[in-house]
Amino acid sequence: MNDFRFFSPTRFVFGRGACDRTGEELAALGYKRALIVYGQGSVVRTGTLDRVKASLDAAGVAYEELSGVRPNPEITSVREGVKLARDFSADVVLPVGGGSAMDAAKAIALGATYDGDVWDFWRKRAVPADRLPVACVVTIPASGSEASNSSVISNDEEHLKCGLGTDLNRPVLAVNDPELTFTLPPYQTAAGVTDMIAHIMERFFSGQPGVAVTDNIALGMIRAVMDAAPRVMENPEDYDARANIMWVGTLAHNGLAGLGLGNPGGRDGDWTCHGMEHELSAFDTSITHGAGLAVIFPAWMRYVWREHPERFLEFGRQVFGIEPVDPAVDDLSGIDEEITPERAVADAVEETIDELQEFFVSLGMPRTLSEFGMTAEDVEKLLPGLKINRGEKFGSFMQLTLDDARQIYLSAL
Ligand code: NZQ
Ligand code: ZN
Repeated sequence: MNDFRFFSPTRFVFGRGACDRTGEELAALGYKRALIVYGQGSVVRTGTLDRVKASLDAAGVAYEELSGVRPNPEITSVREGVKLARDFSADVVLPVGGGSAMDAAKAIALGATYDGDVWDFWRKRAVPADRLPVACVVTIPASGSEASNSSVISNDEEHLKCGLGTDLNRPVLAVNDPELTFTLPPYQTAAGVTDMIAHIMERFFSGQPGVAVTDNIALGMIRAVMDAAPRVMENPEDYDARANIMWVGTLAHNGLAGLGLGNPGGRDGDWTCHGMEHELSAFDTSITHGAGLAVIFPAWMRYVWREHPERFLEFGRQVFGIEPVDPAVDDLSGIDEEITPERAVADAVEETIDELQEFFVSLGMPRTLSEFGMTAEDVEKLLPGLKINRGEKFGSFMQLTLDDARQIYLSAL
């Protein structure tokens, strides 16, 4: 087990009606002036915004609002929010929504205490030193942003989507009310489930040897979410299934799922698939992050698994109950070809990757990049951004070059 530092300062308020307690929770923490940040109207239509505002009114917390943050949030909204936060003298930023509202809010929180242009942080031209606190009301379990150290922001003018990881990004409060997720469209539910599984897998496949405690937490969470996802597809108001998905979404990305698996001196996972997906949603901002991951992750797995087959065997065993065929134990009388040990491993790994991909597809996720309308020429347009964000070589499970990334994208067309 590798050494680690783990900082997860977020206070969680979880359960039915939790969003009605937002005001009292903020007041108890001493906040008096909240900048509410939300997306393109779902929280207005569902009544969630009104409920949050009513709770702020009841607790004597004043508020100002920034609306219209789009999925794959853009720096223009962030700059607008920085100005609002300053003009209003906000002492807390309160996103009500998903990863997009939360990431925009985190960016606003950093920008409000910085004299330069907030985009500097995402282009690594400056390092943040301070922030306003962020408190999240989560309406879609997916990004895990409500407890993560990350914020991902797009800049359309520069054709970039960049992440920024810093403990300053960790929210002080996350209000997880599973009932708020009853209204999610199936596609967003599925993309969220895919994203949280991807957050666990980025860490599981870090390239470092397994850690029993972390592997069991991580793969147990994947089993729980794979059990719950079909249930919410069948019945969107299945509270227990929604609640399990929501809590996995948070724990998948607060750091817990990678403890001891981190790369010494580096990141707590491989993160190549996230890097490759971010280029997709930078290229076409209508691509949903989780849907992009549903295509990229299996393609990456097929390309790299031979580097550490033992991790894929462990994953297949714990998640899908897949074991390599063993001629000493299994009855192979109906099979003509010789099953070598290498062949048995390859078959088990391929079956594992196929099962994972079929699970994503069964939820309504795409299988190929062509389903986003992408072509081989488009693949070339993804590589310059990848180079800016990841450099010429990246990845820890297997070190890849930009040419490897090209091959993986092409294999997913
Ligand atoms: O914009 P509105 O109208 O609110 O609608 C949203 C949006 O269209 C809708 N929605 C959210 N809650 C709903 C709802 N519709 C009905 N009922 C509800 N309860 O769902 C759509 C997607 O929302 P969004 O916030 O974009 O989704 P998500 O949480 O998946 O966030 C995606 C963003 O997070 C980034 C992604 O790259 C992407 O930009 N990520 C952030 C991470 C982090 N900060 O740690 C990690 C992730 O890996 C990810 O990269
Ligand atoms: Zn993600």
